[in-house]
Amino acid sequence: MKRLFILAGLLFPLYALFGAVKDERTGMELISPPNYSIYHEETLSVVVTLSSPHVDKIMISAESNQSSEIFRQKGRDTYCKTMRLIPGENTITVKGIGKDGSAGILSAIIYHDSVSEKMYKYPPEKYGKSSFHILANEKKCIPCHKMGVNGQQGIAFENPSDSNCFVCHEKLTTRGQGHAPAINWLCTACHQTQNKLESDSQGSKFILPGHIGKVCLTCHQKEKETWEEKRFHHMPVDAQQCTRCHNPHSSENRYYLKAKAWELCTSCHIDKRDGNHFINTFGSRNHPTRGKPDPSRPGHEIECISCHNPHASNIRSLIEGESPMGICVKCHKK
Ligand code: HEC
Ligand code: HEC
Ligand code: HEC
Ligand code: HEC
Ligand code: HEC
Ligand code: HEC
Ligand code: HEC
Ligand code: HEC
Repeated sequence: MKRLFILAGLLFPLYALFGAVKDERTGMELISPPNYSIYHEETLSVVVTLSSPHVDKIMISAESNQSSEIFRQKGRDTYCKTMRLIPGENTITVKGIGKDGSAGILSAIIYHDSVSEKMYKYPPEKYGKSSFHILANEKKCIPCHKMGVNGQQGIAFENPSDSNCFVCHEKLTTRGQGHAPAINWLCTACHQTQNKLESDSQGSKFILPGHIGKVCLTCHQKEKETWEEKRFHHMPVDAQQCTRCHNPHSSENRYYLKAKAWELCTSCHIDKRDGNHFINTFGSRNHPTRGKPDPSRPGHEIECISCHNPHASNIRSLIEGESPMGICVKCHKK
């Protein structure tokens, strides 16, 4: 009992920040997003319940002048809408409108972090990661949505919309380059269910792996073996922080990178941001790292991975290829 008490004390300050936003006067409630929460992805879902009969429509607005007007339907109190996020702070506002004008207003401030933009890499302290899939939230969706995991598992969905997850998470898989298990809606390959909804109302039903490496490498065993044979390893890869660089679902960049390769590399190697790179080898001086065509890969510009392997290499400084001499002649043919 005593231990429970201490635990509750520890959890309270953390979770007190979150929780639904409510307008006491009209009973309008923002089920999601919770105030001061962090989103890694570029979209979120806005879910509002109305109880006052005086609200005829709602206006949902978000950054970049997004706004959406939804008319109230007879007998329906819950309304849902997916909105896009910009890096950094985003204000989501829901305005209730009745016959006599405004009938209540709700707003939540949330943070979308970005690996490649230094300014938005580290959310200020007041923000924290929240979990949607807790019993109290899911109960509010069950009347209209299937909240369970489909019986079909480990086999791709022929029609993605057959997945129970699709209605609410469609946007995660619709960017140009899609990762196979995500675009086939095998979500629980990575987000295993914890089946602890009944007993634990704080954590998510779905595992949100922070150190995802182990999960990635169960399927990418072949790559793992290739990298392990190499002499030099890139530190974030060794630390299995695959999602520092790769979006696990989809992205506009090749190999689902979270940003274009040059931006990604220089987000940590800040000293290489000026576009030049001092290279000692063979007496060379400042060498361009962008803005010029890459002779070894027609159609691409030169970038960090023109010369470096992002994961592992047999040559010091993760130089691409098998011999240090080879790298220069890849582009500078005599
Ligand atoms: C009263 C029925 C009802 C309830 C309750 C309900 N929804 Fe929905 N939801 C719908 C319908 C119907 C749609 C399809 C789009 C529409 O008509 O709004 C939908 C669509 C959505 C979408 C996709 C929106 C978009 O822009 O593509 C999301 C996300 C969503 N619901 C989340 C939730 C969540 C989370 C809950 C529980 C907290 C919930 N809904 C509760 C009826 C409901
Ligand atoms: C009724 C809508 C709805 C359905 C159905 C749904 N989710 Fe979610 N889920 C949400 C919302 C809302 C969030 C909060 C993030 C956001 O706004 O997109 C969320 C968040 C998550 C997260 C992040 C962790 C968390 O708990 O916040 C994971 C992982 C996830 N969902 C997986 C799934 C999987 C897997 C399925 C299918 C088995 C599924 N979801 C079905 C609405 C839904
Ligand atoms: C290959 C593994 C993998 C698969 C498959 C996968 N996810 Fe994820 N997902 C992750 C990881 C890892 C994170 C943590 C986010 C990060 O580090 O960028 C995450 C984060 C999320 C989040 C939270 C995003 C946020 O804004 O914080 C949601 C929601 C989610 N996943 C839903 C899904 C759904 C729905 C599917 C099925 C279409 C799915 N995931 C498939 C690995 C996966
Ligand atoms: C459930 C199995 C599974 C898991 C878990 C998984 N992947 Fe994949 N991944 C695949 C499959 C299948 C492909 C497509 C195979 C191909 O085209 O070579 C793929 C392709 C990729 C590719 C592109 C490879 C190419 O040559 O086009 C990258 C990058 C990638 N995965 C990264 C990751 C990362 C990062 C994680 C962890 C967040 C992860 N994967 C977890 C199954 C998985
Ligand atoms: C420092 C950033 C970074 C990290 C960390 C990282 N990757 Fe990559 N990965 C890349 C880049 C950049 C490419 C694209 C290379 C190219 O375009 O030639 C790539 C390509 C890939 C590919 C496809 C091509 C190949 O080399 O086989 C796979 C699969 C892959 N990564 C898996 C992973 C897994 C699994 C992890 C975690 C153990 C991981 N990556 C960690 C940056 C990273
Ligand atoms: C998440 C942060 C992070 C990202 C993103 C990242 N690196 Fe690194 N990198 C490190 C760390 C940490 C080390 C090891 C410490 C050091 O030597 O600075 C390292 C080391 C290196 C080294 C070897 C240094 C040596 O002396 O052996 C090279 C080369 C390198 N990174 C290139 C890249 C390239 C190319 C990319 C983009 C594909 C990239 N890095 C992206 C964190 C990162
Ligand atoms: C034209 C080939 C080439 C390009 C492009 C290139 N590098 Fe290098 N890089 C090298 C060589 C060669 C070395 C090792 C020898 C040296 O330091 O003189 C090296 C060394 C490094 C090191 C370890 C030593 C140090 O200076 O800290 C890091 C980290 C690194 N590069 C990161 C990057 C990043 C980040 C980019 C993209 C902005 C990049 N490189 C683009 C060829 C290149
Ligand atoms: C991925 C292709 C690539 C690799 C590998 C590469 N370079 Fe370059 N290098 C370039 C490009 C592109 C330029 C810019 C040419 C221009 O200004 O039009 C350049 C410019 C130079 C210059 C300036 C003089 C000139 O030719 O314009 C020197 C010197 C140089 N590189 C030396 C090296 C050395 C030494 C290495 C091996 C460590 C190397 N390069 C590896 C692509 C490469």
